[in-house]
Amino acid sequence: MTDDLQTLQSETDAALAAAADPRALDAVRVAVLGKSGRLTALLKELGRASPEERRERGAALNRLKDALTAAIEARRGELDAAALGARLAAERMDMTLPPRPRAQGLIHPISRTMEEMAAIFGAMGFAIAEGPDIEDDWRNFGALNIPAHHPARQDMDTFYLPGIDADGRSRVLRTHTSPVQVRTMLNQEPPIRVIVPGRTYRADHDATHSPMFHQVEGLVIDRAITLGHLKGCLIDFLRAFFGITTLPVRFRSSYFPFTEPSMEVDIGWNRKTGELGGGGDWLEILGSGMVHPKVLANCGIDPREWQGFAFGMGIERVTMLKHGIPDLRPFYESDIRWLRHYGFNPLAPAMLHEGV
Ligand code: PHE
Repeated sequence: MTDDLQTLQSETDAALAAAADPRALDAVRVAVLGKSGRLTALLKELGRASPEERRERGAALNRLKDALTAAIEARRGELDAAALGARLAAERMDMTLPPRPRAQGLIHPISRTMEEMAAIFGAMGFAIAEGPDIEDDWRNFGALNIPAHHPARQDMDTFYLPGIDADGRSRVLRTHTSPVQVRTMLNQEPPIRVIVPGRTYRADHDATHSPMFHQVEGLVIDRAITLGHLKGCLIDFLRAFFGITTLPVRFRSSYFPFTEPSMEVDIGWNRKTGELGGGGDWLEILGSGMVHPKVLANCGIDPREWQGFAFGMGIERVTMLKHGIPDLRPFYESDIRWLRHYGFNPLAPAMLHEGV
């Protein structure tokens, strides 16, 4: 190799060693092998040499070109490996570190009960239906066979809203979730199997009553539904919900305008200790009955072909009983200390009990 080629090789090697990143490397490549690079210029000059000179120098230039090309690629490989190494080091994570503490909310007991009810009834094939908090008095009362001036309207301490709606009906804050029975039957062909969790309102306020509270309604309509289905469904639900497979359940004859026959449902407990199950005392927990034929007819369902049952249950009450919560009022006070005590971890799934 002639001196000038030797110089070119050693200078290029030095420049490659000094190139610390892909951009610098590319600059070296262009300066040597690019269109106006040093080696390219030498190759162009070949044309002016004599034939023997050209053969010898041409071969030497081509060897040098191959050597420099290989050196550039080798340096590129080194730089890539170094870049990857630096990136891996920078992104390194210590998987053994404990997670940072994070502020995490808790599920309100009312929401938790609703979720559990949805899970238990869901497993029995019920869907969830919903309706608005503001209802007209026909859906809240009339369609449910509670005529105007019926004492049930007073019993429920209804909140009336001012004015009337487009159909000439008074507007009320629904006093129970039963108007969603009406909505469901008007909107959907039987067979029907729904539960309706939601807010309800009555003008009543003391230690055990809140003007806003929650209920869950149930409605089953089919061709051959009997009182036996009602009893079996509610016994299964109550035992699953309270987690007591032997929970005593009693059906007591009662009256609701929208069911016939009607039954109130009691569960066994110990009045003195508050413990559910044994104890020999009874606690009323929900209202139920076979849907009144007039209600079916009011909702466009032929009572000679279809029948079914309905029930309604206060959510606060069963929540207090299940978790031993003594006072109703803090449910709505958003007191963080109460929520921390009675709230539920959102990541822990609701516990479902035997038989579900
Ligand atoms: N709506 C009734 C109440 O609020 C409960 C109920 C619902 C009773 C369905 C029977 C059938 O008291």
